[in-house]
Amino acid sequence: MELIGVIGGGTMGAGIAEVCARAGSEVLVLETRQEFAEAASARVVASISRGVAKGKIRQEDADAAISRVRVTLDIGEFADRDLVIEAAPEIEALKYEIFGKLDEIVKPSGILATNTSSIPVIKVARATTRPEHVVGMHFFNPVPVMPLVEIISTLVTSPESAAAVTDYAMNTLRKITVQAGDRSGFIVNALLVPYLCSAIRMFESGYASAEDIDAAMKGGCGYPMGPLTLLDSLGLDVALATTETLYAEFAEPHYAPPALLRRMVEAGRLGRKTGRGFYNYT
Ligand SMILES: NC(=O)c1ccc[n+]([C@@H]2O[C@H](COP(=O)([O-])OP(=O)(O)OC[C@H]3O[C@@H](n4cnc5c(N)ncnc54)[C@H](O)[C@@H]3O)[C@@H](O)[C@H]2O)c1
Repeated sequence: MELIGVIGGGTMGAGIAEVCARAGSEVLVLETRQEFAEAASARVVASISRGVAKGKIRQEDADAAISRVRVTLDIGEFADRDLVIEAAPEIEALKYEIFGKLDEIVKPSGILATNTSSIPVIKVARATTRPEHVVGMHFFNPVPVMPLVEIISTLVTSPESAAAVTDYAMNTLRKITVQAGDRSGFIVNALLVPYLCSAIRMFESGYASAEDIDAAMKGGCGYPMGPLTLLDSLGLDVALATTETLYAEFAEPHYAPPALLRRMVEAGRLGRKTGRGFYNYT
């Protein structure tokens, strides 16, 4: 896999484009408007430049990586891509439309991957005539820093397609890969969400303070941050949406969104990004 396509140059798409380019791939990124295209390029350049400033990337490697990323507004340019990774917004109808178009344009041997967090990969695959060549590649934010990629095979993904993207993620991008089934939450969110919900319920019941819940999990389990600090960083709206998706899939009580989480989102207390969540950042 040498020619990579990335759909969407936002938070995730720019990060994916960066790691692919730094690993030596030629990367084409699709955006929808000129100003978004410029913002996507700027994101990649800024992140790579931070790596240079921190002494993690040599200047000549940075220049070479930046020269391997090109942003376009024309999906027609994706015909020659070996692998296209879609990182457009989490809107089902939009993803179906994008996969339908990619299916018409990308060469028949090209593999199409989605970075969706919650939409069943099979639904995206069925928007194409090549569902055996459609996989999930779930990266984590920030992509250049987080080592994991979850590889998701649907019931019809071919073992060869799953093996090819796993090989690319492991041996070219130097990521850790895990294989997961096509169920909501894959591995990480399926385990993380009940833990975060339990922390909210513990706080809501008055059993312990936010500070003590976080201090306990940092000091007792060696986690880099406590669950309520993590929720504030993720954004409580994002956490609520993820919890609702998991609850809709499994209807198990440990995925049920705690009432306090809903009330905080309704109150606009979304965490760090609004200045107030479980903690006050103002
Ligand atoms: N942000 C995270 O922490 C995270 C982590 C893992 C997975 N994801 C998933 O990654 C995907 C992208 O999330 P994000 O946070 O990068 O979103 P984002 O909003 O930061 O970026 C989306 C980008 O897609 C562009 N876009 C919109 N419509 C498009 C189209 N038709 N064609 C091409 N580009 C288009 C937008 O202009 C924007 O730049 C979502 O499916 C999300 O669930 C996000």
